[in-house]
Amino acid sequence: MSGKSVVLVTRKLPNAVEDRLHRDYEPRLNPDDRLYSSDELIALSEGADAIMPCHTEKFSAEVVARLPDSIKAIANFSVGVDHVDLQAAAKRGIIVTNTPDVLSDATAEIAILCMLGAARRAGEGERLVRGAGWKDWSPAFMVGIQVTGKRVGIVGMGRVGQIVARRMRGFDMEVHYHNRRRIDPTLEQGAIFHESLEEMLPLCEVLSLNCPATPETTGLLNAARIALLPDGAIVINTARGALVDDDALIAALKSGKLHSAGLDVYNNEPAIDPRYRELDNTFLLPHVGSATRETRDAMGYRALDNLDAIFAGREPGDRVA
Ligand code: DGY
Repeated sequence: MSGKSVVLVTRKLPNAVEDRLHRDYEPRLNPDDRLYSSDELIALSEGADAIMPCHTEKFSAEVVARLPDSIKAIANFSVGVDHVDLQAAAKRGIIVTNTPDVLSDATAEIAILCMLGAARRAGEGERLVRGAGWKDWSPAFMVGIQVTGKRVGIVGMGRVGQIVARRMRGFDMEVHYHNRRRIDPTLEQGAIFHESLEEMLPLCEVLSLNCPATPETTGLLNAARIALLPDGAIVINTARGALVDDDALIAALKSGKLHSAGLDVYNNEPAIDPRYRELDNTFLLPHVGSATRETRDAMGYRALDNLDAIFAGREPGDRVA
């Protein structure tokens, strides 16, 4: 026995993060990076003091109820916490933390990639070149939409949304946003607040989803709201798949109501609705918003900072429950 706190780490983490875990804790690592079932998660938690999971492990009320009493904290390696039943954790006195800020730039980069990929038909073009299907050039070939100077609507003007807004301004885009409440005007940098999503949607030539998945935002982009977008709009989602009603989005992509969609996140990942794959006007990424070396290291350090605080008896900086 090392006397160090035992931390169950559910996925393979960056080496530097695992080094720090070895230095300060007794980690139970997952070198094979295998996704644990709920039963395995519970069994492996036996005798551990904390869990450091990713969004890939689901902590439903039932799972939280079955965690051993030794578990004092769930220190997520993620900013999103929709995979954890926070009320159930709070009821058991389990502290839950996340990793805000450190992944905002990386995620905003992917939002821009999704926007450009969808607007300029990047997936289609890449498939054509790779598949040796590119035979000719003509003025009518692979024509997409220019985003420069267009109007974008951002749903969720939190940390990521604000950086997305800043990057989009680099394309001379007019930025509108909808948020639960107006952000401090000094942070708006010219973005126009809409109290009602319905009022903003008709303006959005590009719509970027950047809000967390909660019971209130689940299915937020439904058929009625898509109908309010201008014809030929582009939808991008780098937040959570749960924000989107897949049937409605796919129908609008098929009918031509929407020009295209750039998606990094999906319902039921990675077993996404297969119809997305069949559409040429989707630009699809595999949930890589935070997938940069810099960001993944920073996420690990942030989760560890939270654990350090908890085990030192201090309030962790990123407590969500
Ligand atoms: C997050 O941190 O929420 C990202 O989606 C990766 O899990």
